[in-house]
Amino acid sequence: MQSENSAPIHAGTGPAGAGASYGHVVDRSKVDTSHGPILYLEDICVSFDGFKAINNLNMTIERGELRCIIGPNGAGKTTMMDVITGKTRPDSGKAFFGQVHDLTRLVETEIAHLGIGRKFQKPTVFEQHTVFENLELALKTDKSVKPTLFFRLTGEQRDHIAQVLRTIKLEGSEHRLAGNLSHGQKQWLEIGMLLMQEPELILLDEPVAGMTDAETERTAELILELEGKHSIMVVEHDMDFIGTIARKVTCLCDGSVLAEGSMEAVQNDEKVIEVYLGR
Ligand SMILES: Nc1ncnc2c1ncn2[C@@H]1O[C@H](COP(=O)(O)OP(=O)(O)O)[C@@H](O)[C@H]1O
Ligand SMILES: [Mg+2]
Repeated sequence: MQSENSAPIHAGTGPAGAGASYGHVVDRSKVDTSHGPILYLEDICVSFDGFKAINNLNMTIERGELRCIIGPNGAGKTTMMDVITGKTRPDSGKAFFGQVHDLTRLVETEIAHLGIGRKFQKPTVFEQHTVFENLELALKTDKSVKPTLFFRLTGEQRDHIAQVLRTIKLEGSEHRLAGNLSHGQKQWLEIGMLLMQEPELILLDEPVAGMTDAETERTAELILELEGKHSIMVVEHDMDFIGTIARKVTCLCDGSVLAEGSMEAVQNDEKVIEVYLGR
């Protein structure tokens, strides 16, 4: 599993990449947002063989915010998530989680531990385990260890699993094998696995791709339920879905922000219509 979730790509040799440190002490109680946003990106650049996938990208996400990201294929949406999660090092620019944590100096596991959870485009659940076991496994922080189920859950952990099962609408399906779930249910289970880690910031990359209309609707409900409890960034192409959850919307194009604002403002933006929505 997690074929997309491979080792960090050191995209550049700029100052941020060169200064990467592997010995930081990460303490999630220190994610200080008392005077500012949960996520702060400033002038981020990422090049692949001279091609600028991210080009002076600036973005700020407030604590508890639900942000939708749209934009054409190749706009840099996934690469932006790679930068935030430490999978790709930017060539230049600043990336902060709260005010203290410089994301360009942390590795993927440290960033995950600090409270940034990411769902990739393809569901990556343990198919041969039950829904309950998947959530149980998600409690474990050391993903490199071969999954074993011989550890005892505390009452609090059981309550947490029960609560997540309700949120992801899989209550009553906890003993089904994850491999037997529908595509949509697998996506929800993976969101549930993220929730087990109680992330501050959740990044969802095309969560409703391949879902039925009913599943898409339920996913919108799920995301709205999470709003306020977590900060959430959702990348999606499905504009009907975006329309049902949209607060502030950002349209990326050619690695930077093309337009940002209300759904209505972004949808009616001439540049956005030109490059993405069409006439
Ligand atoms: N690892 C990589 N190596 C080379 N090019 C890449 C890599 N990752 C992304 N790109 C390129 O960067 C651009 C942005 O890609 P991506 O972030 O996946 O866009 P989006 O998610 O908005 O569709 C694309 O042109 C893509 O081909
Ligand atoms: Mg993408």
